[in-house]
Amino acid sequence: MLPISSGDVLTVKSASLLFMRHAMRLILAPMEGVMDHDMRDLLTGINTFDLCVTEFVRVTNTLLPNRVFYRICPELLQGAKTASGTPVRLQLLGSSPEYMALNAVRAVELGSPGIDINFGCPAKGVNKSRGGAILLRDPEELYRIVKAVRDAVPAQWPVTAKIRLGYEDKLLFLENSRAIEQAGASELAVHARTKTEGYRPPAHWEYIGKIRENINIPVIANGEIWNHEDARRCMDASGCSDLMLGRSSLVTPNITTMIRESTGPMSWYSVLQLILQLSDRDRKNGKWQYHPARLKQWLNYLRKAYPEAQSLFERIRSCKESEVILETIYLDLARAA
Ligand SMILES: Cc1cc2nc3c(=O)[nH]c(=O)nc-3n(C[C@H](O)[C@H](O)[C@H](O)COP(=O)(O)O)c2cc1C
Repeated sequence: MLPISSGDVLTVKSASLLFMRHAMRLILAPMEGVMDHDMRDLLTGINTFDLCVTEFVRVTNTLLPNRVFYRICPELLQGAKTASGTPVRLQLLGSSPEYMALNAVRAVELGSPGIDINFGCPAKGVNKSRGGAILLRDPEELYRIVKAVRDAVPAQWPVTAKIRLGYEDKLLFLENSRAIEQAGASELAVHARTKTEGYRPPAHWEYIGKIRENINIPVIANGEIWNHEDARRCMDASGCSDLMLGRSSLVTPNITTMIRESTGPMSWYSVLQLILQLSDRDRKNGKWQYHPARLKQWLNYLRKAYPEAQSLFERIRSCKESEVILETIYLDLARAA
């Protein structure tokens, strides 16, 4: 408990801080092609996330070899935790109940603390083969998939699902949520937009509130939470105390501190130090040739909060040499010191 002396005035702000410190869970969102093992390590090293969910493992009509699970989630080799000890849960995407179940069992055998199922992916190729958000058109199919996975995975492991509010429209948002609950899911994360709405603001947090009122499993709110104020507004609109954070963790890397402590973004100097940690990892792990693309991808997010990131992005945009980029970063670091 935070000490509150008799002389303290318990303002609304301090009351909300108490609430946020003790009851709120913050989960690092799955982000295919961005939120890999290295980013999870960096971000959980400077934040207090309660859980990470991996990029999705695509399941078709086969039991995948172990190496696929280890590639998406190298943390399986270290107790399914990031270096700083945050648990990492594997996410599966697919439409065959039978093979989703088989692969889910394999994932938990390899150490994943539960399974998350992706019903939100908007990618054309994925939807064409009946995976991701397209399944939101058919609550019975959602039910069959979740039920098969739940029945197959030992009861001590959570089976969770992540949805959007619908495919083209929101007509089935409650039916879908109920189907997932009835199939035995342990929790439901909701990205508060339809597939058609893509990533266009706003996120419709009030719909998450309606879901929460209609089902009895924990609901996690997701979408457009960029800072402390957004977190508060989202919690008010949805009634959820569990939030999932995606892009904001790349734009302002100290996002959980911002939300939990109501602070601002970390300094650009500290961001540069994080970038150098990523460079170091990429060089050591044989990913040096991919480093420029990866760094530009991250800067593309960072420049939404840091003008310095915009400037750095412009200077390295056409550069393909990791060493040259590294020199530029060191110069910026010296300038920012
Ligand atoms: C580049 C990118 C990749 C994503 N990959 C996944 C994924 O693999 N699985 C998933 O369930 N959601 C995925 N999402 C959706 C995010 O988890 C999240 O629901 C969405 O970005 C909204 O949250 P935000 O506003 O906090 O970013 C992805 C989003 C982005 C931008």
